[in-house]
Amino acid sequence: MAAQRLEHQVTEKGFVPIYATGVVEQPWGSYTETDHAVWAQLYARQHEMLKGRACDEYLDALAAMEMSPDRIPRFDELNEHLRRATGWRLVAVEGLLPEETFFGHLAAREFPVTWWIRAPEQLDYLSEPDLFHDLFGHVPLLMNPVFAEYMRAYGLGGLKAVGIGGAALQHLARLYWYTVEFGLIRSRDGLRIYGSGILSSSGESRYALESPAPNRIDFHMERVMRTRYRIDSYQRTYFIIDSFEQLFEATRADFTPIYARLAEQIDIAAGDILPDDIVVTEGTREGWNDSADT
Ligand SMILES: [Fe+2]
Repeated sequence: MAAQRLEHQVTEKGFVPIYATGVVEQPWGSYTETDHAVWAQLYARQHEMLKGRACDEYLDALAAMEMSPDRIPRFDELNEHLRRATGWRLVAVEGLLPEETFFGHLAAREFPVTWWIRAPEQLDYLSEPDLFHDLFGHVPLLMNPVFAEYMRAYGLGGLKAVGIGGAALQHLARLYWYTVEFGLIRSRDGLRIYGSGILSSSGESRYALESPAPNRIDFHMERVMRTRYRIDSYQRTYFIIDSFEQLFEATRADFTPIYARLAEQIDIAAGDILPDDIVVTEGTREGWNDSADT
C-alpha cells in the first residue's frame, strides 16, 4: 500500500509523521538511549527465557529475521526479510486500531506494530501493547508461511464478521486471544509457546508452561470461541494446537453458520472445564482472583 504523507502529529509519546488512519512512519531517529536500553534488556531476558519454551518455528524465525538485540530494529530492514519469506510487511502505528482497520491490514498482509516502547519502570506490566509486545511477540511467526496465512485469513474473516454484526466479532476475538495471543503448541519435546502475549511476558512464559494453576486443554475452535478470557491476570485456560496447519484448516470453513450456532449457546467461563474437553492439565486454580472474565 503506497501511503500518502499527510502531516506531522505531536502525540503523547512523541512527534511522528502520520501517513493514513493510524499509520505513522517509525520515528527511528527519535528513540532515546533509554528506549534502546529497554529493548535490549527485554530482548536479552526473553531470548534466554524462551529457549526450550517457545516453539522452534518461532525461535528459528527470530534468528532468521536478524532482529538487533541491543538496538530497536528498523521496521524497513525487517520488512525485507518478511517480504522474501511470506510477502508480509510491518506498518508502524500509534497504538490499538479500530477493529475494521486492523482486520483490513491483516487481510492486506500488513501487521500493525506500535512504534513506541515502554518505560523502564514498566518492564513487567503494561496495560496496552507496545513495540516489544508487537514486534518481539507477534512478528517472527509472520515469517512462517502457514501461520502468516492464518493471520491473513483471520483478517478476511474479521472484515466479514464486521458485516455480520451481533456477537460474531466477540466470538472471533476469542479465537485470536486464545491462539495468536495465548496459544500453546505440541512439539516432540512437550508443550511450547507460540502466543505473542506469552512470548513477550517473562512471568507468563513460565506460568503458561510450568504453573499447576491453569487448565491446558486441546484446541477446539467452537469451544474456544465460546470461552471468555482474562485481561487483568494470566490466563485460566490455555488451548493447545498440534500444528499451525491444524489452526489454518480449522479456519477454512465459512464461519457464518458457526456464528449462528454459537448465538444459541451460552458462554463458557475462562476457568471452566467441560465434559467434552480433552484435558491435558486440570488447573489447581491457585491464585485465581475473583475479578470478572472479559
Ligand atoms: Fe498482541
